Amino acid sequence: MAERELDGKKVVVIGGTKGIGYATAEMALAWGADVVVASRSAENVANAGEALAASAGRPVTAEQLDGMDRAATADFLARHAPFDHLALPGSEVIRMSMEDLDEGKARAYFDSKFWGPFWAAYQARTHIRRGGSITFYSGVANRRPIEGYTMGGAVDGAIDAMTRSLAWEFHEAGIRVNCVSPGIIDTGIGQAIRTAEEWAAWERYNSERQPVRRLGHPEECARAGLYLMTNGFVTGEILAVDGGVESIP
Ligand SMILES: NC(=O)c1ccc[n+]([C@@H]2O[C@H](COP(=O)([O-])OP(=O)(O)OC[C@H]3O[C@@H](n4cnc5c(N)ncnc54)[C@H](OP(=O)(O)O)[C@@H]3O)[C@@H](O)[C@H]2O)c1
Repeated sequence: MAERELDGKKVVVIGGTKGIGYATAEMALAWGADVVVASRSAENVANAGEALAASAGRPVTAEQLDGMDRAATADFLARHAPFDHLALPGSEVIRMSMEDLDEGKARAYFDSKFWGPFWAAYQARTHIRRGGSITFYSGVANRRPIEGYTMGGAVDGAIDAMTRSLAWEFHEAGIRVNCVSPGIIDTGIGQAIRTAEEWAAWERYNSERQPVRRLGHPEECARAGLYLMTNGFVTGEILAVDGGVESIP
């Protein structure tokens, strides 16, 4: 039965206290896994730990961790080893027009969304049991340019490329490497980088144009992540969960 496909497995989610990461942790628990979630904010960690435990009816480990801190991440992964699946949705988001280009912010964004997950995956490769997996999170901006989101598109493209390469680099360790590439998902990050008016226009624009005429839900990305974890014949895959946005003529 699909719902228990993660029985006996251990799933670690860095960035698992909100949005897509939280939904992934919650679904992994429902599918039978032991789950560890981590993120930077003490408040998010406490809230997520409590809510996930209530939802699962059993304890869940929730810890504070900044995925950009390589030493702390190495220590965190070693303490929770061995585990089966590592999901890496934890990152900041920025939106920046070319007029407002700020090199420091652009580099910090790459540190958050590319380098943090890269080093976590690299450090985790000796802690993941054979048959396990790593899941990255990129995004639609690699496939459909979004104004003000050049850095987003670039980092998403880098993550997609890294996914295909690491699937080869780690195959001898028996680790599959995949990526969920979300479209516009209603988690709050889109609102965080826009005014209320801009967001309303953006939501309307996407909902009217893409074949599935609404924004995505975090649970829909979670389901994609769990598919990638549990299907042993899938590696190097970039799985779009985007309401069909790429098919817009
Ligand atoms: N939602 C969308 O429309 C969309 C579209 C395309 C791509 N994506 C990608 O999908 C992934 C998840 O997005 P989301 O919408 O679920 O984001 P979200 O709701 O903002 O959640 C992000 C999570 O990551 C944590 N986090 C952020 N930086 C971290 C760090 N340095 N170390 C550890 N944890 C960190 C946050 O908690 P703390 O603040 O406590 O650290 C939070 O738990 C991201 O990579 C995002 O770029 C999302």
